[in-house]
Amino acid sequence: MDLGTYEGIMRGADPDPDTYEDGHPLFGESVTGATDYDWDHAMLKSRLRNNRMPQAPAWEFMRDESNRLGPDLEFVDGHAQPIRPIQYSNWDDPENVPNALGLVEAWVADLKAGGDLTVGGDDPFSYGGEDNLTFNNDVLPFFTDGNMWFEGSTSCVECHWGNIEESFHLMDLSSYDGFIYGADGGEHPVLNGTTTTLTSTDEIDWGSSRIKKRLRDNRMPPNSPFLLSEENRDGPDVWDPVNGEIVTAVDLIGMWLEAGAPE
Ligand code: HEC
Repeated sequence: MDLGTYEGIMRGADPDPDTYEDGHPLFGESVTGATDYDWDHAMLKSRLRNNRMPQAPAWEFMRDESNRLGPDLEFVDGHAQPIRPIQYSNWDDPENVPNALGLVEAWVADLKAGGDLTVGGDDPFSYGGEDNLTFNNDVLPFFTDGNMWFEGSTSCVECHWGNIEESFHLMDLSSYDGFIYGADGGEHPVLNGTTTTLTSTDEIDWGSSRIKKRLRDNRMPPNSPFLLSEENRDGPDVWDPVNGEIVTAVDLIGMWLEAGAPE
């Protein structure tokens, strides 16, 4: 990806190195080259705003990306747990080296295939050659316990423990029901990336899910300070000389897109 030139940012991420085509659009446009920009749903916007979870302490940013799928897993008495001390050898061979994100994905895929959102946390699913894994026994500890993603990682439920205001983003990651309900009063499901309440397993989509993106994608630039107040999420204030007002850096990019993204 070339963020240093107008052509480069319009080609997006991971374009074909010979033709520069088929990049992943940065600005929410349907394909690179199209002008139907959609800043609210743009990949660049989420990378600038969304902290990778868990935070405080934060993930270590690894340039080789090796920790993006979480730690390598082993199965003890049929139950998944991180290999200790935590290691990340799975990135180059995720199909064959069981890893935390692969485990969560397998549960999500099984839930979707089962067709029943109310099946609960004790329904068995398979991963890494084990057939009797369940959400409650094997997946949930990655959210309720500390030290599961890296040494010293905070448990998610320290911040996300109930569907009430005092729990960050009104999100309850302590139970099956909380995962189905999602964040912000159900308006931000964790099992897909939409902004409407999850009502059926058909709507589950691991690829675009908040849970996958928040666990896997580092906020950019790396090591942005994490503020619980969220006040730095839209970047610094900047002066907009056209309208004569202060706006945030993220909103300024949105205004540029609305104006047709001129060079
Ligand atoms: C120290 C507190 C803290 C911890 C620990 C924490 N989070 Fe968060 N989380 C936040 C805050 C604050 C936000 C909103 C700011 C942001 O988006 O970065 C947030 C946002 C989120 C969102 C987006 C919600 C939405 O409405 O779109 C998800 C999903 C999430 N966290 C998942 C997790 C998971 C999974 C873990 C554990 C692996 C975790 N969080 C651990 C504080 C925390």
